[in-house]
Amino acid sequence: MDKAINSPFRYAGGKFYARNLILQHVPAHKMYIEPFTGGGSIFFAKAKAKNNWLNDLDETLVNVYLHIQNSPEELIAALKGEIATKERHNWYKNIFKPANNLERAQRWYYLNRTSYSGIMNMQNCYWGYGDKYSMRPENWGASILRTSEKLKDVRFTSFDFEKVIDDAPDNAFLFIDPPYYNADQDKFYTCSFSLDDHIRLCKKLKEHSHRLKFMITYDNSKEVWDLYDWAVEIHEKEWNYTISRTDDQKKTSDKTQSITKGARGKGKEIFILNYSDSSVKQLEIPTLEHV
Ligand SMILES: C[S@@+](CC[C@H](N)C(=O)[O-])C[C@H]1O[C@@H](n2cnc3c(N)ncnc32)[C@H](O)[C@@H]1O
Repeated sequence: MDKAINSPFRYAGGKFYARNLILQHVPAHKMYIEPFTGGGSIFFAKAKAKNNWLNDLDETLVNVYLHIQNSPEELIAALKGEIATKERHNWYKNIFKPANNLERAQRWYYLNRTSYSGIMNMQNCYWGYGDKYSMRPENWGASILRTSEKLKDVRFTSFDFEKVIDDAPDNAFLFIDPPYYNADQDKFYTCSFSLDDHIRLCKKLKEHSHRLKFMITYDNSKEVWDLYDWAVEIHEKEWNYTISRTDDQKKTSDKTQSITKGARGKGKEIFILNYSDSSVKQLEIPTLEHV
């Protein structure tokens, strides 16, 4: 069984703190698919399946994954000697104009590692690095190499989720983590997700439910319970997480940033399954190697 590692990115809505709770519900599978990969915390936390397909509509994110997968040394060289400062962050954000895909990956990676909560929607991408709680630039190379190893033979695409679900082979397991139903997610992500998209997702999953296994994570709201009244099991879950921030965020009234240093938060979500936990063979859960 291969090792569990951390996501290479900081990612808004990432499932790092919920990963063990989620993995307890994942059945054994040969084909693993994430239509909404983001930071991929569940893919990185679990043992790799025989076949793996990671998708995200955000092509700028997929471009970074492809560089980490196929040319990690080039990306490491492009980031060599970097320091994490607000000036460099501003330079990458406002001045640097990437001339090719490698430079796009370099810019995205730097901003992601140094921005508050990994928010990559440029309107809300602020400096948010702290030596105590962020990965230091001297460790970025090792993280890129570890990630590259785990990404070997993984298929990447940047399609809309419908195509992924339509094309998923029979009996595949899909971990589905769409943007929240009741939150202003457009603040966080480059691709927006509307009410119609939530309904479209529900319909598409229902259409394929007889031939695929899936687990969906969502905010715990009445609308989502109503949409998924056809699911086999819905589990209500809570977990704790800690939030860190820099002084920059203290002064803002922006809701995405009005939190106190080291504050504890509570994640509350529902896990929606189209199978019964007790009827499937459970997945083996690896221990986390690098924190
Ligand atoms: C909640 S995040 C996923 C977080 C991820 N599970 C993690 O642990 O980091 C949702 C992702 O859906 C992507 N997305 C938004 N609209 C999409 C669409 N129509 N099809 C596929 N992906 C989409 C966003 O770019 C974002 O990365």
